[in-house]
Amino acid sequence: MPSRKPVTSASSCFWMSLKHLVVLSSLCSLISGYSESDRVRDLMTRYPLIDGHNDLALQLRIFHNNRLSQIDLQNVSKLATDITRLHAGHVQAQMFAVYVMCGAQEKDAVRLTLEQIDVVRRMCTEYQDFELVTSVQELTNSEMRRKIGCLISIEGGHSIDSSLAALRMYYQLGVRSMALTHTCNTPWAESSSKLYNVYQRQNNSLTHFGKAVVEEMNRLGMIVDLSHTSWDTALAVLKHSKAPVIFSHSSSYSICNHHRNVPDWMLHQLKKNHGLIMVNLHSNFISCRDEANISHVAEHFDHIKKVIGAESIGIGGDFEGAVRFPQGLEDVSKYPALIQELLHRNWTENELAYVLRGNFLRVFVEVERVRDQLHSNLPSEVQIHLKEVQNPCRMVLRPPDQRQQPSDRNSSFRAQHGPKDHRTGSDGQRPPAPWMPPRPGRNP
Ligand SMILES: *[C@@H]1O[C@H](CO)[C@@H](O)[C@H](O)[C@H]1NC(C)=O
Ligand SMILES: *[C@@H]1O[C@H](CO)[C@@H](O)[C@H](O)[C@H]1NC(C)=O
Ligand SMILES: *[C@@H]1O[C@H](CO)[C@@H](O)[C@H](O)[C@H]1NC(C)=O
Ligand SMILES: *[C@@H]1O[C@H](CO)[C@@H](O)[C@H](O)[C@H]1NC(C)=O
Ligand SMILES: *[C@@H]1O[C@H](CO)[C@@H](O)[C@H](O)[C@H]1NC(C)=O
Ligand SMILES: [Zn+2]
Repeated sequence: MPSRKPVTSASSCFWMSLKHLVVLSSLCSLISGYSESDRVRDLMTRYPLIDGHNDLALQLRIFHNNRLSQIDLQNVSKLATDITRLHAGHVQAQMFAVYVMCGAQEKDAVRLTLEQIDVVRRMCTEYQDFELVTSVQELTNSEMRRKIGCLISIEGGHSIDSSLAALRMYYQLGVRSMALTHTCNTPWAESSSKLYNVYQRQNNSLTHFGKAVVEEMNRLGMIVDLSHTSWDTALAVLKHSKAPVIFSHSSSYSICNHHRNVPDWMLHQLKKNHGLIMVNLHSNFISCRDEANISHVAEHFDHIKKVIGAESIGIGGDFEGAVRFPQGLEDVSKYPALIQELLHRNWTENELAYVLRGNFLRVFVEVERVRDQLHSNLPSEVQIHLKEVQNPCRMVLRPPDQRQQPSDRNSSFRAQHGPKDHRTGSDGQRPPAPWMPPRPGRNP
């Protein structure tokens, strides 16, 4: 930092270290007619936003079935997100959700997830303004200052089809965060929503396998996201995770009693974990009504700050995922209006610098540090019990039956694993397993 020069213009405010900003910014406005919006713009230029949740990829699926060539992402008037408005909103990095409907659980959730990852990766390589990022180093690299970093985040544990190997392969494709559920339970974690009546369990918010998922995410360096999970599941994860976790797009339950929001007692647990709640802007989670405004949003920020401090707060807009947004925050270009409102409410520029990006970076650094600590652990071989996931779409690979004679063992193994044209349980070698329904004309 240069030594302090007399402050003569707004631009010299750029030079000041953060701790001097508060005092000097008021000086600046006195001397140079530095307006409130200049102050917000300068702050957000120095500390551009890392936002926790955006469902643009879902809209690409809905409107274009992922045919990226049909759309120009510079300017998409029918959506709330495009490159022009991300720049205007000072969004420097975005966690892009890859989401597939809960109805795909037990069906083609894995293929659909791969297709969503593909479309985010394409979008972030085919457009110069975007850059795929997979580490803190890439995210904070000086080249990134002119770009919008894309982080990939899976929204819903059903995407891994209860397979740690699938989880690891998603990591290889660049996924750095996963919400453990969407609106459906998985065989190993519970959703806050009762929309789908699947995998109901008693007192089993995070099963043995669910704990293995969290451990493997810790080992890989993938951020655990608790938005959409039940409170019991969130609490179990907060107790089990070695790394800080996030709620990527949830707000305060004290201010709006919605099951997607986080109660104060959970916020205290989150603080112990050094985790982060990234406030969701969806009107129905903000005011519990269809209409809301910036004051309502600011109440969530003020409340969470009062309970656990500004160092635990971020922003997870949920644009393209939700439909109704507060007056004045209708699209991704409007984030500065929120920052201006928080400045009005006496949030310091230092606090806001952390809300905008510092807190998320701290969590991501810590997640990578835990990964490095665990680097000597081998990939987990924990497998879910077959009885927890049995369904007609799952091929059952039986081990050789221990009770059979050695020669039988050989033939029953061949019956399942080869040669290819005999890969069926109904080829006369042995009957199909009782839980496998007959599927005439098809291999299981
Ligand atoms: C974006 O597209 C809309 C309609 O297609 C057009 O009215 C508008 O001027 C465009 N904006 C920019 C910045 O290109
Ligand atoms: C639920 O499980 C936890 C630990 O697994 C146990 O401590 C608790 O007593 C159980 N609660 C009930 C109601 O069974
Ligand atoms: C937001 O709406 C409330 C009433 O629900 C009102 O009191 C408040 O002044 C509004 N704030 C803004 C910024 O319009
Ligand atoms: C902000 O601080 C000023 C000066 O300390 C005070 O007068 C004002 O009431 C405060 N505003 C809020 C919203 O707390
Ligand atoms: C199993 O089959 C392999 C090759 O088909 C053969 O070499 C081996 O001796 C067999 N083992 C037993 C125990 O029958
Ligand atoms: Zn969501």
